[in-house]
Amino acid sequence: MLAAAHLLRFVTAPLARHIHMSRPASAKVAVVLSGCGVYDGSEVHEASAVMVHLSRGGADVAIFAPDVDQMHVINHTKGEPMEEKRNVLVESARIARGKIAALSTLDVAGHDAVILPGGFGAAKNLCTFAVDGADCKVNPEVEKTIKSFHDAKKPIGLCCIAPVLAAKLIPGCSVTVGNDQEEGGRWPYAGTAGAVGKMGATHIRRDVNEVHVDTANKIVTTPAFMCETKLHEIYDGIGHMVKEVLDMV
Ligand SMILES: *[C@@H]1O[C@H](CO)[C@@H](O)[C@H](O)[C@H]1NC(C)=O
Repeated sequence: MLAAAHLLRFVTAPLARHIHMSRPASAKVAVVLSGCGVYDGSEVHEASAVMVHLSRGGADVAIFAPDVDQMHVINHTKGEPMEEKRNVLVESARIARGKIAALSTLDVAGHDAVILPGGFGAAKNLCTFAVDGADCKVNPEVEKTIKSFHDAKKPIGLCCIAPVLAAKLIPGCSVTVGNDQEEGGRWPYAGTAGAVGKMGATHIRRDVNEVHVDTANKIVTTPAFMCETKLHEIYDGIGHMVKEVLDMV
């Protein structure tokens, strides 16, 4: 055993050194989650797609969530609220496999970009958009995070409903939440586009496999589950978003 381990180290060491020397430093990307589960937290597939594409893109990922109670807890078998309390950081830690920190500890100087996946948690726990629409309030730590990445001219990626956070916080920015028309049920949350306009941002129509890049503000958005479609199309749209974010680093 010992000898084999030694041999392995001997064989791989020069290769590792070579890789280290020939590659640029990895992009350091912060991911902000909002719980675990589409109706009261981060949409699990979106969060996973973000992390798979960041992994493939060679990024160093650090995951954060606010240490606050969820707005409520939904029984996902029926979509009804339950009589229990859950914490956004504790629930997000499920997706992060335990490797997570409180959003209050996120220092913009240590990261090149930030990405916020969607799910109702983004509109219930990171801000009050699900209840208050365009008049929503944003969690102060989320506000500080988005504004400080923006001030530092570092890219911000968002998908699904999460772009409403940029619309609320970055005056005059442009984002996509998909389509402003329901088109026979393909875009069940089409009304969100109107709320984006009310908050002083510009809504740009994009299909699920597309992204909108606001180059002046370095904001990259894609519709994801705002669209009623196949899972792999959502995954591909998010891949496009992650790539645009990494290209801007
Ligand atoms: C969740 O909802 C299902 C379907 O209505 C119900 O059978 C179940 O008892 C609920 N579970 C809890 C823990 O409330």
